[in-house]
Amino acid sequence: MGGFVFIRSTGGLDALALAKLSLSRMEFRGKDCSGVAWIEEGKVRVVKDSCPVGELFARYPLSGRPVDRVLGHTRYSTHGKADPRNAHPHLDCGGTVAVVGDGALRNYEDLYAELLEEGHRLVSKSDFEVLPHLVEESVGRGSDYLGAFVNTVSRLRGIVATAALFRDGSAAAYTSHQPIYVGLGEGLLAISSTLSGLYGIAARYSKVDRGEVVAVTSGGEVVFLDLSGRRLSKEFLPYELEEPLARTDGFPHHMLREIYETPYSILRTASAVQSRYLELASKMILRSNRVFVVANGTSLHAGMVFSYYLSEMSGAVPVVVSASEFLLYHLDGVSVGDSVIAISQSGETSEVVRSAYEARLRGATVIGITNNINSRLTRFSNIYLPIAAGPELAVPATKTFTSTLALLYVLAKSVAAITSTPSSRILAETWEEFEKLHYTLLGELDRIRAEAERASGFIAGCSSGYVVSRGIAYPLALEGALKIKESAYVHAEGVEGGELRHGPIAILDENVFAIFVEPLEPVAAEDMLSVVGEAVECGSPTVVISHSARAEEALATKTRVVRVPSFERHFMPISIAVALQLLAYSLANRRGVDVDRPRRLSKVVRTVG
Ligand code: AGP
Repeated sequence: MGGFVFIRSTGGLDALALAKLSLSRMEFRGKDCSGVAWIEEGKVRVVKDSCPVGELFARYPLSGRPVDRVLGHTRYSTHGKADPRNAHPHLDCGGTVAVVGDGALRNYEDLYAELLEEGHRLVSKSDFEVLPHLVEESVGRGSDYLGAFVNTVSRLRGIVATAALFRDGSAAAYTSHQPIYVGLGEGLLAISSTLSGLYGIAARYSKVDRGEVVAVTSGGEVVFLDLSGRRLSKEFLPYELEEPLARTDGFPHHMLREIYETPYSILRTASAVQSRYLELASKMILRSNRVFVVANGTSLHAGMVFSYYLSEMSGAVPVVVSASEFLLYHLDGVSVGDSVIAISQSGETSEVVRSAYEARLRGATVIGITNNINSRLTRFSNIYLPIAAGPELAVPATKTFTSTLALLYVLAKSVAAITSTPSSRILAETWEEFEKLHYTLLGELDRIRAEAERASGFIAGCSSGYVVSRGIAYPLALEGALKIKESAYVHAEGVEGGELRHGPIAILDENVFAIFVEPLEPVAAEDMLSVVGEAVECGSPTVVISHSARAEEALATKTRVVRVPSFERHFMPISIAVALQLLAYSLANRRGVDVDRPRRLSKVVRTVG
């Protein structure tokens, strides 16, 4: 993941300084690496390193150069660790074009193999390095720069936003899904992958939508076009984003911004999985005597959902356990032939890292699932699969949870089918499913947020409550309760629906809310309707997260209903998670909690386990 900017100054302004300002505004997109490219004496020059942009400018003589056009990038590692070679911009063999990008290429392995065959020298592990070489190939076959850029982006699969600076001083940018922006200021033109990146630069801006290209000729003319070359007309609006919203891309908190990134981050996850590693991991799991899934907190809840995925799809039943319990109770018995799937967004949670390390010492195979490929977890794993959700700044995990679910879904599907179906086909099939999920969620997020907001008002007077569900949605009840505790400082407990009458129901009254997540198993959903009725009779403010019209009809008058879009059942945990996250977020807001930095919590829990 990353953020990028192209700056063209016509009024003598320092383009490098403006690029630095813009990149520092979008460090929420990552800052493991940074880099800039410009044209000097007819050549494309690049300076890049594994450090944030502020440090890049301190390390290298960049300030004060009389440069009028610059392409810059700030990066979060997903393909290739934080290393100067993996930093963007990337160059082609002849040094004629510099390319930066954001996203993940699904067909990277094929394009990489093809370019090696053609004799290109690729020096990094970043998937975006293929782009300048593809442009070079196309130019070699007679295309002009813009034509070569359009040919190149037309060949990309996955989720991609990219920009290129050519030796003749022209530039172009493209996006496959997430909008990018063009800004105009006094003597300035900028293209940025975020709205924040235009802060302090643009007076007016326009959007480049999915499937569109914006080109800037060497003379400075701006042209919008689609991939068939048809010109598009665009409206420029006043740029009104102000501090502090410019630091969070227009959202009041990182938590909300990150929830809203979900439709994009699940596509990043689905694109970043490489078929050969997926195949290896699947075979390791398939051949294991025992499979342990080890994690903490939100990642543990994702692991619990995985056990439903895996057992339903392949028949294998993993042992899912908190990392601290694994160390205390299971580790001694672990040996050669066992697999440990260690899940950690940060890749640095002490007990997960120690579980991976100790299990590997005992001969187990460790499969790391992490959003941080520079972490200790990746080092101690035999193989790792990237969550690839991009940096998550708010302490409550949101998009990394849904992306972990997406990755675990792909893994379970692959384990179940790997002996009969190539992993590349599994990935192609799941991509289509994820794209449908992406479009639906994108269209529904505002509505879900509005309903969650209303529901949060209904339960705001309670000091405590339950989140109840059954079956594959049960781990979501645990996760919903955790989100409410850590985000809103309200006591909440996740309860398995069948257990409610075995004790918990005793304390239900008007001070104790009940949030029911409609189960995905029809029999369980039927049962829950009557339990919801009992909670209402007890006087509990009751909310139902519902995916069926039937539940809505039955419950709308007595409860607040938050409707979630209905998908194939294995995708429902993602849809439900988003609703619960928005509910917790709204509740936290009502209570005035600083959701991004809740008290006593940190993004990485380092304890001695
Ligand atoms: C999530 O919202 C919490 N902040 C916390 O439970 C977290 O999931 C847990 O500490 C595990 O973190 P990890 O995924 O980075 O290992």
